[in-house]
Amino acid sequence: MTFRELWDQIAPIGLSAATGGYLRYAWTEPELALRDWFRSQCRERELTMEEDGNGNLFAWWNPSDEPGVLTGSHFDSVPHGGAYDGPLGIVSALLAVDALRDRGFRPARPIGIAAFAEEEGSRFGLACLGSRLLCGAVEAETAAALRDRDGVTLGSAMGVVPAGARKEVLTRIGSYVELHVEQGRGLAESGRPVGVASAIWPHGRWRLDFTGEANHAGTTLMADRHDPMLTFAYTVLAANKEARLRGAHATIGRIAVEPNATNAIPARVSAWLDARAAAASVVEDLVAAVHGRAVERSHRDGTQVSLTPESVSAETTFDGELRDRIARLLDDAPILPTGAGHDAGVLSAHVPTAMLFVRNPTGVSHSPAEYASDADCEAGVTALADVLAELAS
Ligand code: GLV
Ligand code: MN
Ligand code: MN
Repeated sequence: MTFRELWDQIAPIGLSAATGGYLRYAWTEPELALRDWFRSQCRERELTMEEDGNGNLFAWWNPSDEPGVLTGSHFDSVPHGGAYDGPLGIVSALLAVDALRDRGFRPARPIGIAAFAEEEGSRFGLACLGSRLLCGAVEAETAAALRDRDGVTLGSAMGVVPAGARKEVLTRIGSYVELHVEQGRGLAESGRPVGVASAIWPHGRWRLDFTGEANHAGTTLMADRHDPMLTFAYTVLAANKEARLRGAHATIGRIAVEPNATNAIPARVSAWLDARAAAASVVEDLVAAVHGRAVERSHRDGTQVSLTPESVSAETTFDGELRDRIARLLDDAPILPTGAGHDAGVLSAHVPTAMLFVRNPTGVSHSPAEYASDADCEAGVTALADVLAELAS
């Protein structure tokens, strides 16, 4: 089967006709449909399914007591996200298994495919929620109480309290190799279709709540206002400046305004700050600086500001030996860091972990414009099959 044939099977699932982007939030109908599709693909390939009670699915070829080589990624998307971020790693894994079987390869140790839940954290706010639960990086009860934008808890979305840390599942994973679309232009610039990850920048999400006083837009004198929108607007510009000063990245891409009326001064603005940098100390310093600037401005506006961390991910440096072994195997593939988070970052604290990137000509991601050519995706499948063969021999 070609990449395009398998890819087209999932292309309509969760597609927004309005934007051309995907709405595949964890435990919603499109994402559950993708999991069902995954289960049926694994059944066709006679892989042994295992579910960890945290929403993560594992399908094993040749399961045994020996730790195996796991690959895979996630199905969930950001709001109106691209097609490739996540699903490319799962579809490529299925095709890599096909390729290995066509080659007559017999794995000496198990090869598994994982579909991790809520990697983007688009629904419940915590990135890599499924892999964090599996690894015990978040308590099951804490996760169960997380709420989505409609107030639905994770526990009720799942129908059960998640299982949390699963040592017996983790010990079956000898190594993890995640294939992902590149989310930058490193490979486009190097002229190579496939690369290997060196590191993930430390990053996180902080909620800033700006509160003031709701009042009439027409009758409230400008001098009498306590307008949290002003404090928020100033903070957006300050975040941009503070990030640039540090060679870091700061983004405010999501806000909620109450009461969100054209003719009323808002009572409250909530804004989510995404901050990333090459070093954790820079991220901490950046967030403190943005918070400091917001507080300063709030004194002028007669408003209040509070800062709450929602998702914090430490720096990941991938296993150097595995990285170099894979890069050599793939004809000295380029080795690149990334500012994007992945389940591989969470797994890397427990097992030797690596990532393959597939070229993205524009580098655009988390957008409907995210893209990789079919030829490059096929090259990704071949590279992944080569890596799995190397690690499972
Ligand atoms: C996930 O893609 C993230 O980096 O936020
Ligand atoms: Mn991803
Ligand atoms: Mn993503």
